[in-house]
Amino acid sequence: MRVIIDTDPGLDDAVAILYALAESKLDVQAITSVAGNIGLERTTENAGRLLAAMGAELPVFMGAERPLSGPGRNEAAIHGADGLGGVVLPAPRSAPLPDAVGFMARMLQDAPIGTLTILALAPLSNLALLAREHPAAFARLGGIIAMGGTVHELGNAGPFAEFNFASDPLAADIVLGASVPVTIIPLDVTRKIRVTRADLNALRHSGRPAATTAAAFIDAYFVGSAHKSRPLHDPCVMLLALNPDLFGIREMRMRVDTYEHPGRLVPDATRSPIRVAMRIDTDRARSTLWAGLSQ
Ligand code: BDR
Ligand code: CA
Repeated sequence: MRVIIDTDPGLDDAVAILYALAESKLDVQAITSVAGNIGLERTTENAGRLLAAMGAELPVFMGAERPLSGPGRNEAAIHGADGLGGVVLPAPRSAPLPDAVGFMARMLQDAPIGTLTILALAPLSNLALLAREHPAAFARLGGIIAMGGTVHELGNAGPFAEFNFASDPLAADIVLGASVPVTIIPLDVTRKIRVTRADLNALRHSGRPAATTAAAFIDAYFVGSAHKSRPLHDPCVMLLALNPDLFGIREMRMRVDTYEHPGRLVPDATRSPIRVAMRIDTDRARSTLWAGLSQ
């Protein structure tokens, strides 16, 4: 599967990217960065550092510095002041390139229709700009798989909203209303893929670069947290791309509230259905992720 990873690393983004790079069934073309967990300069640099840590020669394109709507947010309290919990990685091998949205548009125009999928781990600002500014290219997408939203679960950006959708509610609404196949993985599922300190040993013992680096991020994820386990939200996107049978998908008609509770998913019968992952085989998903990181 040919993919672009759109991301704001971020500890769980970092684990997701390592998994994608270790997994030969994903043909990663590039990483596009966006402001989210932390500012754009840092998410871009973090993407470059992750590629360097894996010895991957892929371009990083800088995307949106601010959301289409709302003041933006950050999650430095969870991901650390550098976005990667202080884990030291090699410097990026090359400088980032500008204009993530223009890059996606060019790539889509050059590729056969329906052959490129975006794995979206962050606020959807870049994808909404692509839909607005390059609608013909956007329509050529094979699909978007995005971590975001919450259906029944309590939010993590206020009681009703999830961080990625709350960070740019208008962008999320544009993408959910677009006429390409969209699959979202809300907190209802991503909170079920949890990692404990006990998992760290297995990852470290594999000795593989993706696994040992992921262990360092997961270790950092526990700093300052009283919780016994932590959710791995963003790796669920890669898991679904590679192993759709791990998930139970429902079709729902939804919009994203941009006004009263920004980022909240709201049923809307006028919308075309999107695919929403509502169930996951937790044990198999966890073992698939650990095996993917450890290969
Ligand atoms: C999402 O918000 C970010 O903090 C994580 O990286 C993930 O993409 C979870 O709500
Ligand atoms: Ca993220």
